[in-house]
Amino acid sequence: MLIKTRPGWAIRESEATPESVFLNRRSLLGAGAGLIASAALPRIASAQAKDPTADLYPARRNEAFTLDRPVTDEDLAANYNNFYEFGTSKDVVAAASRMPTRPWTVAIDGLVEKPFEIGVDELIRKMPLEERLYRFRCVESWSMAVPWTGFPLKALVALAKPLSGAKYVQMQTFMNPKVAPGQAQRWYPWPYTEGLTMAEAGNDLTLLVTGVYGKPLANQFGAPIRLITPWKYGFKSVKSITKISFVAERPKTFWEGLQPAEYGFWANVNPAVPHPRWTQASEQVLGTRERRPTLLFNGYAEQVAEMYKGLEGERLYV
Ligand code: MTE
Repeated sequence: MLIKTRPGWAIRESEATPESVFLNRRSLLGAGAGLIASAALPRIASAQAKDPTADLYPARRNEAFTLDRPVTDEDLAANYNNFYEFGTSKDVVAAASRMPTRPWTVAIDGLVEKPFEIGVDELIRKMPLEERLYRFRCVESWSMAVPWTGFPLKALVALAKPLSGAKYVQMQTFMNPKVAPGQAQRWYPWPYTEGLTMAEAGNDLTLLVTGVYGKPLANQFGAPIRLITPWKYGFKSVKSITKISFVAERPKTFWEGLQPAEYGFWANVNPAVPHPRWTQASEQVLGTRERRPTLLFNGYAEQVAEMYKGLEGERLYV
């Protein structure tokens, strides 16, 4: 007999953060009104409408992924972003809107049968796009719930045909200080780089994301393609990817290069392991005054805990 159980990570639709609340997170967190962001909104809307893959949105929602909280309001989510290439504030909409996202290619290289480069539109059209509701937990201890559209990274791994020596996947953001003023600040180890083990890359939850809220990604979200690993702190989810490399050694990641004691390679969410400067026991839900207890692996333990068996000696939660 098939018994349908609701897995621990499932969030009911009624509990997902409403789009308007998600998008208002900036003011709700007391950061002030996003005046510059509002001025850039018509430009962003028209860029999204002109996106060569716009016809693919909204993609079919995979109902297996539900929420335990409301979906965050779109305006809130779209105006409270971390994208250091465009500044250290959360208000990067106007600056990021100057980033050209076409033409855009993604290079696949390193330990693969045959390295190649692929145009992002061709890649997106080859892949099984779907929408999923995921919780998203920033290391800064705010959280949101987001309808991402994308495809499992494992589909791209299959396309890449990695060799047996490949143990990690390294992902890199574009590098162009003329467009991204933050990259002129040389004390940061640009380009932004992140990495996963091959097991993490093959996990069903790991998504390469190309859209959000039923539309192609707006630039501040990391257009045209970014990573989402919902059981890890948000800094793992590298934006605007141009290169995916299969490597034998664990890559040094952007934040690890800056502050290894505070931001490590693994960065799995764990309420019992505090950040050196603040607790991770609870989180501020964007768009609400609610503080919720943080969940182990952000509520996705059932899907991911197995991958960390035998790795207890590692700093899995930093
Ligand atoms: N990717 C790049 N290239 N540059 C960044 O500054 N910030 C990270 C991550 N990916 C960042 C990045 C951090 S710290 C977070 S919390 C998330 O993006 C924020 O994603 P969001 O703006 O879509 O909420």
